Amino acid sequence: MLDKKEILASVLSIEGIDKKEIYGLLTETADPSKGDYSLPCFKFAKVLHKSPVQIAQSVAESLTCLPPPFVKAEAVNGYLNFFVDGKECAKQVLGEIAEKKENFGNSTEGEGKTICLDYSSINIAKPFHIGHLCTTVIGGSLYRIYQKLGYKAVGINHLGDWGTQFGKLIVAFKNWSNEERLQQYGMQELTSIYVRFHTEAESNPSLEDEARAWFKKIEDGNEEALHLYNLFKEITLREVQKTYKRLKIQFDSYNGEAFYNDKMDPILQELREKKLLVEDGGAQVVDLSAEEMPPCLLVKADGATLYATRDLAAAYYRKRTYDFYKSLYVVAYQQNLHFRQVFKVLEKMGNDWAKDCVHVAFGMVSMESGAMSTRKGNVIYLEDVLNKAVEKSLEIITEKSPNLENKEETAETVGVGAVIFSVLYNNRIKDIVFSYDKVLNFDGETGPYVQYTNARCLSVMAKVGECTAEPDFDAVDNPEGKAVIACLQRFQSAIREAGERYEPCCIGRYLVDLCQSYNKFYLVHRISGEEEGVKSARLLLTNAVHVVIEEGLRLLGIGAPQKM
Ligand code: ARG
Repeated sequence: MLDKKEILASVLSIEGIDKKEIYGLLTETADPSKGDYSLPCFKFAKVLHKSPVQIAQSVAESLTCLPPPFVKAEAVNGYLNFFVDGKECAKQVLGEIAEKKENFGNSTEGEGKTICLDYSSINIAKPFHIGHLCTTVIGGSLYRIYQKLGYKAVGINHLGDWGTQFGKLIVAFKNWSNEERLQQYGMQELTSIYVRFHTEAESNPSLEDEARAWFKKIEDGNEEALHLYNLFKEITLREVQKTYKRLKIQFDSYNGEAFYNDKMDPILQELREKKLLVEDGGAQVVDLSAEEMPPCLLVKADGATLYATRDLAAAYYRKRTYDFYKSLYVVAYQQNLHFRQVFKVLEKMGNDWAKDCVHVAFGMVSMESGAMSTRKGNVIYLEDVLNKAVEKSLEIITEKSPNLENKEETAETVGVGAVIFSVLYNNRIKDIVFSYDKVLNFDGETGPYVQYTNARCLSVMAKVGECTAEPDFDAVDNPEGKAVIACLQRFQSAIREAGERYEPCCIGRYLVDLCQSYNKFYLVHRISGEEEGVKSARLLLTNAVHVVIEEGLRLLGIGAPQKM
C-alpha cells in the first residue's frame, strides 16, 4: 500500500537528518485545518543550529513540487504541515482495495522469517474451560496477523500430556469406568472420574500410592499403562477439535511436554558443563539470585524433571527445527516468573536467541459467577459459554429479522464471534469479567456490531445494484467520507502495530473505528437515488469498507454473515 509517510519522507531532505528519523516523526493530524500530516521540527534544532521555526520555514520553501496526493506544505510555529488532495486519496485507496480485495494490507516485511507461536497448550484429560479462551484466540489471531505480514507462522499446541495426574486417571479408570463409557461420554467421563479420585483419595490415601505406581509404569513403557495414557490423550484431542473448529483455530504441531522426555538430557549435560547446574537440597537448580529470582528447579531430588526442564528442551528444539525469528508463548500472566526464569537460563547458557523468546501474557477471564477448579468439578466449560452465546444470538436475530434464512448458522457465527471479539477487543493484560449481555449488544463496541455493519454494507450494495459509471470522487470528499478514507488507509499500520505489540486488540479497535466512521457517513450521505457518478463513488467506498471489515474479522478468527 502507498504509505503516505513514506512518500513524504522520500522527498523531504533535511541535511544531517536521517530519512528514517523523519519518517518516525511524521504524524497524522487530528485537526484537518492544520493539514493531514505534520512534521515537528523541534528535534532538528540542535543538529542544525537553527530554531524549529526557521527549519520548518526553509524546508517548506525548498519544497517546490510535492508528489501526489500531496498538494501543499505549510510552516506553522515549528511544524511543517502537509495537505493531501482528498479526491486523489480516495481514488488511490478505493482503487487499491477494489483491485487487491482481501489482499489489501498484506505486507512483505516478514519474508523469510519464521515466528513460532505456543498457544492454547491444553492439558490432557482436563476440561477446556473458559480460562483457555484467551490463549487460544489471542494465539490464533496473532498467527494470522503474522501470516498477513508475510512471516511464516508455526502454531504449536504444547500439550500438557505428562505428569502424575495420568497415574491418578488410570487408577480412577480401572476402578470406576471402562473403555465403552469413555468412548461414549468422552471428556465428561474423564473429568468426573478425576473428580471422584480426589474425593475418594481423601478417605483412602492408598489410592495416591497406586496412582504413583501407575505413573511409574507409564514412564517405564508398560503396555497397558501406555495404552490407557494414549486413550486419554486421544479422547481429549478428539473433543477439543470441535471447539477449535468453532473458534477457527489451527496448529502445525501438537508436540507437547511428553515429546521432550528424551530431549532434556543433553541440555542438563550442557548446563553441568557450563557449571550452571548446582545442587540444592538434593535437587538440581540454576541459581538466579544475581537476577533476583528464585532458583530455576530442573531436576527434583527423586530424579524427576519439571515443567521448566521441558520448556528448556522445547525452546532448543524450536530453535533447531524452525530457526525462528521470534518464539512467542501466549500464556497467562501467572506464569510470568516461570518464563522469566526459563529465558534467563537460556541466556546464561550463551544463546543469543534467548532475547527472541517472548512471553505474551494475558489477564484472567472470569464469569460473573466466580472462580473455578477442575478438582472440585465446578468448571465453566468453554463449549457451554459458546452454546449459550449462540442461543442468545438466535433469540436476538429472530426478534430483529424474523424472515432471515439460515438463522441457526448466522447465530453460530454471531454468538461465537461475540465471545472471541470480547477477548480481542481488550488489551491482553486486562482481566475480563464476561457478560453475555455486554458482548452481544448489537450497538456496542462488539463483534455483532462489526458484523452488522458489514451486513449493512452488503445490503446497500445489493439494493443499489451494479453501477458502471465513472466514480465522481467529489461525492466522498466531505468530512464523513474523508474520515472513512483515512481509516481505510490505516488498515496496514493497525496490522503492523498488532504484530509489533502482540496485541490483536489493535485490529479489534480499528474495526470499531472503521464501522463508526462508515455508519456516520451512511447516516449523512445517500447512495441510492443519487446521480450515477455519485452512486458509483459511494458504492466503491461501501465495498471497500466491507472488504476491510471481512478481512479484519478473519484476522481475529471471526466469520462475517452476509445477512443479519
Ligand atoms: N499447559 C500449560 C497450562 O495449562 C500451558 C503451557 C504453555 N506453554 C509452555 N511452553 N509452557 O498451564
